[in-house]
Amino acid sequence: MADYDYDVLVIGSGPGGYVAAIRAAQLGLKTACAEGRETLGGTCLNVGCIPSKAMLHASEYFDAAANGAMAKMGIDVTPKLNLPAMHGQRIDAVKGLTGGIEFLFKKNKVDWLKGYANFTSADTVEVAGKAYRAKNIIIATGSSVTPLPGVEVDNDKQVIVDSTGALELAKVPGHMVVIGGGVIGLELGSVWRRLGAKVTCVEFLDQILPGMDGDVRKEANKIFKKQGIEFKLKTKVIKAEVKGKKAVLTLEPAAGGDAETLEADVVLVSIGRRPNTEGLGLDKAGLAVNQRGQIETDHDFATQVPGIWAIGDVIPGPMLAHKAEDEGIACAENIAGLTGIVNHDVIPSVVYTWPEIAGVGLTEEQAKEKGEVKVGKFPMLANSRAKTNHEPDGFVKVIADAKTDRVLGVWCIASVAGTMIAQAAQAMEFGATSEDIAYTCHAHPTHSEAIKEAAMAVTGKPIHI
Ligand code: FAD
Ligand code: NAI
Repeated sequence: MADYDYDVLVIGSGPGGYVAAIRAAQLGLKTACAEGRETLGGTCLNVGCIPSKAMLHASEYFDAAANGAMAKMGIDVTPKLNLPAMHGQRIDAVKGLTGGIEFLFKKNKVDWLKGYANFTSADTVEVAGKAYRAKNIIIATGSSVTPLPGVEVDNDKQVIVDSTGALELAKVPGHMVVIGGGVIGLELGSVWRRLGAKVTCVEFLDQILPGMDGDVRKEANKIFKKQGIEFKLKTKVIKAEVKGKKAVLTLEPAAGGDAETLEADVVLVSIGRRPNTEGLGLDKAGLAVNQRGQIETDHDFATQVPGIWAIGDVIPGPMLAHKAEDEGIACAENIAGLTGIVNHDVIPSVVYTWPEIAGVGLTEEQAKEKGEVKVGKFPMLANSRAKTNHEPDGFVKVIADAKTDRVLGVWCIASVAGTMIAQAAQAMEFGATSEDIAYTCHAHPTHSEAIKEAAMAVTGKPIHI
């Protein structure tokens, strides 16, 4: 240790990096975390998961009051939007949680090295002009917005924005065009639709939410359309021109054909994210990136250079905070000589729209490619709690192996699908069969009973349909 400043130096303090740093310190390793942002917590806490959920939650209340959902339950209100106050509670949520990480760093004796880090050799990084040598370096630099050529983001002008700009709009746009029908487009598009914007979503593919189960994608499209989001599928944006306070977009069918124009007050570019490796000096460490710009690791999160590890959005796999966190814990444990494992086959994903959309494991399409399957479906309309709460949209789908009955995937569209999916992930982690779920006693009346009934439907015996 004599020559080293730290046992572990983590680059980046997002959910991957800060969690890895805390676990390493808990395991008795001398740990530092370099972060270039002014606050800890990475994309997720500063401009991602947390502020987006603050706006989603608040706008759900507004919508419930505005769209008659509250009146249906005997509460007559006429909502008045106070957007500065709504932004205020978003900023407070971020402040509270990023400050919380700073507190946890102090509590666990993790040194925060303030500034952007770059490698000068395989075991040394420079931060704010000072060199630090570490036995182990974890790259947890995360990701940033993928740019769209011809559509230049300028968050300050609030006309063409990325997700960060879309969280901070000072007024509700008359017309918002979302480029990309993925998670960010649908979540942030929903926020501004609920607050009064007309929202058009332009998606390159023939369906929204790529990677999700086919039935889920179709049903989600129907629900969002019913809510008023307009979709232009199989369409690409060629360019955008800002004219004063508006943008004029040129669109073309994805397969080629006649162009059309579309005027927008705000354009949200949400076509994906790419790993952050620029300026890291990876070459100095002897590291390269793959074709997608990601750093490759083995199952233990070790790169090909001994002593350098990588986790989170910067490595292959879904770009999700909980995946990054679990990798952070496993990586720190592996460095400490323990056995840290992440089961990448069971990583839930949730879209926090209304209703929520969640899934874990294989889609029906993927499962069928691997062999014969049995599928059980149960509509939320037949779930007593959802029906009582006036939340009829959605369903649960359980996909099981036809021979062994082992659960291969679970998909839900329901108001609380994000909470429901945890039990499915746990069941799959324990190798459950659909029968195991069907015979597990679920509390009544809960939305989760729909998972039990969908599991019962795998063998054709649900009770309530
Ligand atoms: P990041 O959180 O990106 O953190 C990396 C950190 O490293 C950054 O703070 C960056 O400043 C720092 N850094 C980069 N380079 C250097 C350097 N050279 N030196 C020092 N520091 C550096 N995921 C979910 O699971 N649920 C959600 O609800 C969700 N909502 C999202 C909403 C939005 C709008 C966005 C954009 C993303 C959302 N995500 C969500 C994705 C989630 O934010 C990421 O998957 C997660 O933050 C990845 O964690 P990470 O630790 O790998 O990297
Ligand atoms: P995404 O990958 O979810 O969706 C991008 C969409 O844009 C795709 O449907 C794609 O087909 C489409 N697209 C790509 N190029 C296009 C083009 N030129 N024109 C029109 N459409 C185009 O990416 P998104 O929404 O930007 O989110 C990035 C990542 O952030 C997600 O993959 C997710 O991992 C993470 N995230 C997670 C959240 C959650 O867990 N709730 C919330 C927000 C983000």
